[in-house]
Amino acid sequence: MVIRIAAVGDVHLDEDVVGRFRPALEELPQCADVLLLAGDLTRHGTEAEARCVAEEFGGLAVPVVTVLGNHDHQCDQVPQVVKVLEDAGITVLEGNGVVLDCAGGRLGIAGVKGFGGGFAGRCASGFGEPEMKAFVRTTNESAERLGTALRSLDCDMLVALTHYSPVPDTLAGEPLEIYPFLGSYQLGQAIDSAPTALALHGHAHAGTERGTTPGGVRVRNVAHPVIKQAYSVFHVGDQLDTDQVSPIGQSGSQRSWS
Ligand SMILES: [Fe+2]
Ligand SMILES: [Fe+2]
Repeated sequence: MVIRIAAVGDVHLDEDVVGRFRPALEELPQCADVLLLAGDLTRHGTEAEARCVAEEFGGLAVPVVTVLGNHDHQCDQVPQVVKVLEDAGITVLEGNGVVLDCAGGRLGIAGVKGFGGGFAGRCASGFGEPEMKAFVRTTNESAERLGTALRSLDCDMLVALTHYSPVPDTLAGEPLEIYPFLGSYQLGQAIDSAPTALALHGHAHAGTERGTTPGGVRVRNVAHPVIKQAYSVFHVGDQLDTDQVSPIGQSGSQRSWS
């Protein structure tokens, strides 16, 4: 049993670039059961740009599941953006999950945008000014919602989808000074609190593709500027080899894929 997951993030669509992904997307059914989008679908989060996203990713032959990114929040039109996407048949996750019946089993996807905060030893703490406490509270609440969603799903394979990174590994290439604005260790803890098989994120345009949570879950940065293709495809399943991962309940130590 294998589930094939296509993923890309940070497509940053607007009227000028809509259409660039569509030819490759039409080929998705040949190589993937589902397409996951890791946020920053738009440039500035306008309803007009959301319509470009709907045009690009709507009506595909495979289910499309997304989280929003920080750019999708820029113009404070999140409800309108979400409605346009959902009207196009795209599932938008924020602190919740969905289970899809794929040919290879039930795929559970839990998603949250996430937030910054930094990583062990170099992270923000909720101390002092109310603004700092609010910053860290946002990080903590986002991670808690991801963990709760991950642990709630009844499925054969579990995937975490975020915009911000759960680990520093996939930020390599970004300036160290901005790591606290690119992700947080709390997201990694949430991912490790469930039998997650694969964690996908975007946001770090200058980062690298591969990482691992402290608990051993493989992390992939699928930001378009990183993967440099319309999407990457990950196989998760119970026939262990170099490009598949074990299903829930099997040894995590044998997990690997490309
Ligand atoms: Fe981005
Ligand atoms: Fe971003």
